Amino acid sequence: MFEKLASQPSDPLLALIRLFKDDKRSDKIDLGVGVYRDETGATPVMRSVKAAEALLLETQDSKSYVAPEGDTEFLDLLWDLVCGKATGKHHAGVQTPGGSGALRLASELMSRSGTRRLHLGLPSWPNHSAIFTATGLPIETHEFFDVEQQEIRFSSVMKALSSAQRGDAILLHASCHNPTGATLTSTQWSELAHVIAERRLVPLIDSAYQGFGAGIDEDVKGLRQIIAAAPEALIAVSCSKSFGLYRERTGAIFAVAETQSSAEIARSNLVTLARTSYSMPPDHGAAVVRTILTFEKLRQEWTDEMNAMRYRLNDLRRQLAKALSAGWQMAPQIAAQQGIFSLLPLSEANVMTLRHEHGIYMPVSGRINVAGLKAAEINRVADVLKPLLG
Ligand SMILES: Cc1ncc(COP(=O)(O)O)c(C=O)c1O
Repeated sequence: MFEKLASQPSDPLLALIRLFKDDKRSDKIDLGVGVYRDETGATPVMRSVKAAEALLLETQDSKSYVAPEGDTEFLDLLWDLVCGKATGKHHAGVQTPGGSGALRLASELMSRSGTRRLHLGLPSWPNHSAIFTATGLPIETHEFFDVEQQEIRFSSVMKALSSAQRGDAILLHASCHNPTGATLTSTQWSELAHVIAERRLVPLIDSAYQGFGAGIDEDVKGLRQIIAAAPEALIAVSCSKSFGLYRERTGAIFAVAETQSSAEIARSNLVTLARTSYSMPPDHGAAVVRTILTFEKLRQEWTDEMNAMRYRLNDLRRQLAKALSAGWQMAPQIAAQQGIFSLLPLSEANVMTLRHEHGIYMPVSGRINVAGLKAAEINRVADVLKPLLG
């Protein structure tokens, strides 16, 4: 049986992690990894998470199954955190294994309901098109970001949507765009909301970095504008970064519908899709998030930790932009972008030079994880980047 299969390429980011690990240079720098790092280069368990885990250890009295849609208290709290308490929108939520699980269920649901095509702005997180393709969803791509100019091509997004029809969907990043860090203005969000409502398109909003951009509430302002305007929507939420729960696989998919009965149809389909693949989501991460969001003291601690991560990131962005400014005209954009990623206009040969000659690691796309920088390394990194960018 296996002989008949073609072997699949390994994930280039996982291969990059291995290459970095094997590099013996003590001053090597990893800008490739997709997780938040603190100033010591660690991705620690958040204090609020540790406190919630201690509480769970004490109080949890069963490991029996949770509901097929997961933990409903977690879902209600997460809905409020992401979408807001008073949306007045009919919705259904299903807990998923991470944001990837949420995107997979969303994609299956869209395929099952006959979605004509999904509009996808490029560049995007590579797993987006991989997941959508895996469920047979037709994808139509458009340019989202000009890497040389470091700016969003909003006219290209609007042009793609001007030809979109009822039955089409569009993928949007709620904040902290992966891989570009590019941020839509509130006017652009309004324009998107308008065309989505007018053409009755279904927005699939990927929210994987809430809190890393401008603030916990600020990062979902655009998303909330879209939900308010759209007749139907899908929201894929990942708790991996915002709660530092990466390996616990914590997330949710929310379907927003025009009526409660339509929301219930969406829920039943999402539950069936989950049931026929992994049956039920893992509990631990969701129980941690539920505990944090329930107890005011833990919630405050988490908010403070989240804010501290964002301040560090924004500070690094400002320092890197300043250090690059003498040699690269677009440097100020690095400070204006949000989240952990920016995408530099580097060729594959440039990326290899950085890797082999300077021990600076990033994928061939030129995406850097700003959180992978330490303040003391910024000038060295900027000095080798400037001649390649300028
Ligand atoms: C844009 C985006 N969406 C979704 C995810 C999925 O996150 P996870 O499945 O780890 O929760 C990621 C992870 O890197 C991401 O960058």
